[in-house]
Amino acid sequence: MSVVVLISGRGSNLRALVEAGLPVAAVISNQASAAGLAYARERGLGTAVVGHAGYARRDAFDDALAAEIDRFRPRLVALAGFMRILTPAFVRRYEGRLLNIHPSLLPAFPGLHTHARALAAGVKVHGATVHFVTPELDHGPIVIQAAVPVLPGDAEDALAARVLAQEHRIYPQAVRWFLDGRLVLETGVVRVADPDARQSVLATE
Ligand code: GRF
Repeated sequence: MSVVVLISGRGSNLRALVEAGLPVAAVISNQASAAGLAYARERGLGTAVVGHAGYARRDAFDDALAAEIDRFRPRLVALAGFMRILTPAFVRRYEGRLLNIHPSLLPAFPGLHTHARALAAGVKVHGATVHFVTPELDHGPIVIQAAVPVLPGDAEDALAARVLAQEHRIYPQAVRWFLDGRLVLETGVVRVADPDARQSVLATE
């Protein structure tokens, strides 16, 4: 019933998952210096580093990553700031049990620099999305979203912090729903089998 979390850096979403009491068995990073790895070690979680620089080919890196993941026999693999594009073969291997958190209201602003792009576009509402991973980057069935206002005069940092606070709420919620068997995928759309979920799939500040 455990979760393996993949990170590349800070690891604040990892921390939110652990502090929510979710069964995180291990943390795997492609960066040995990731701050989230130090946190995981302090907490006594399993850790592993699969450095992408050691692999000439993306599929060889993904195979090595999968071998590390599978050692922990997780029910769920959660990407939390994992800054590598995964091959379609990797995504298929974990189909239906691979989640990602992305700092925008998808399908708006897939990819990088979402907060700067939201400010440049002048959107009035921004946010974060937890979704099942499909081979297309930052696409895939949406589990839960959180919306925040974009305030006049917002700087990128302020907006990012407002979104991040919501990320830390919705990722644990999504993982808990998954582990409780409540996420039902029907023709590419996620339904949460929970009588109260009608309100909570959209979290607002
Ligand atoms: C978060 O904004 C997440 O949405 C994005 O990368 C960032 C990771 O932050 N995918 P952290 O490492 O969890 O603090």
